[in-house]
Amino acid sequence: MSFTYQGNQLFAEDCAIADLAKQYGTPLFVYSKAAIIENWQQFAAHWPAPHKLCYAVKANSNIAVLNVLARLGAGFDIVSGGELARVLAAGGKAKDVVFSGVGKSREEIAYALEQGIGCFNVESAAELERIQAVAAEQGCVAPISLRVNPDVDAQTHPYIATGLKANKFGIAMSDAREVFRRGAQLPNLDMRGVDCHIGSQILSAQPFMDASERMFALIRDLRAEGIQITHLDMGGGFGIPYQHEAKLDVSGYLQSLQERAKEMGDLTLMLEPGRSIVGNTGVMVTKVEYYKPGSEKNFLLVDAGMNDLLRPSLYNAYHDIVAVQRHEGLDEPLVDVVGPVCETGDFFGHARHLAAEEGDLLAVMNAGAYGFTMASNYNTRPRAAEVMVHGASATLIREREPLESLWQGEHLLGEDA
Ligand code: LLP
Repeated sequence: MSFTYQGNQLFAEDCAIADLAKQYGTPLFVYSKAAIIENWQQFAAHWPAPHKLCYAVKANSNIAVLNVLARLGAGFDIVSGGELARVLAAGGKAKDVVFSGVGKSREEIAYALEQGIGCFNVESAAELERIQAVAAEQGCVAPISLRVNPDVDAQTHPYIATGLKANKFGIAMSDAREVFRRGAQLPNLDMRGVDCHIGSQILSAQPFMDASERMFALIRDLRAEGIQITHLDMGGGFGIPYQHEAKLDVSGYLQSLQERAKEMGDLTLMLEPGRSIVGNTGVMVTKVEYYKPGSEKNFLLVDAGMNDLLRPSLYNAYHDIVAVQRHEGLDEPLVDVVGPVCETGDFFGHARHLAAEEGDLLAVMNAGAYGFTMASNYNTRPRAAEVMVHGASATLIREREPLESLWQGEHLLGEDA
């Protein structure tokens, strides 16, 4: 959609990617504002108020991205005090934020309460006690949802499946009632919701449907006990096609959720999509440093590494890799596209047909979600710059990290040490 060829040149909206690379250097993340807006609006069209959409900040947390979404009326799903600070810096409001995560510290809880957080998605009985204590100190009442583990198999990569009993997330369904009862007795907690998140990059609606059935049943039980649950947050996890996968159609699922909620009366629904909002709205642009033919394999060595985009190394994830400027009529040898980091796992693609030589630019597609946010400085590599295009204009939304900043805050031992 927003990344298309005009002639032999790859464009992001109306900006030639080669021009952006020339101006801002590589490696470079390029995002399309129009694509972010389109994805958001497509989702929102199936999700009328009072139901809420909370964008999962971890997918792409650049404040320009968050600001575009805040202006569309987005709420946010965060997992740290740092993400809350980003949302506020980007113009989001704390009351529209839900705070997920298994390891919230006292300081993070206190900060979120001071800011007026919309809801804590609580992951354990111990966390419930901790929030009670902090809220009592502040003399306020904390809005609470319990994250319940519905024990469904999301059929995704084991590292990003979260809804099985064996995962560290959430409270077991069998314990949920008891933890709720305890919460309802605590004076500084308002037990108002239940939530779940079964995993990420899920490409079938069935696991979501199964999980929602279990959650509705739980709400019915809790209400029968007099605990007034007023919202259900079904988390995120909607997959996107990276290779040839069929697109996940969520409209039927969203529709059925709303019908069920209506039957239950006074139940607001929430979702926390991340990847499905930003995944296909960004590419990572990298320059070929060397072509290295070999007897077993040919390598294209590029200037981006696993520290810039970790998904292939960590999950063996597939990302399309295309030439930014296509060469007509050239042979396309079979190559592995690899980075400069000193790890065999530092690759972007194996056995790809690509005609490219030193100095050529490649675009790693669908890098808008869990790309920059998972970047590191491994091998003392400054993190990439980020640009957002809007029509024929481009804005540098994150400067390339200056090298010296990488050891700022480090200290030599004193003379006598
Ligand atoms: N809500 C919660 C509580 C989550 O843990 C997550 C993602 C989301 C929402 C958003 O899920 P999404 O809609 O983006 O699938 N780094 C991995 C993905 C990790 C997802 C972690 N949780 C990757 O690159 O595939």
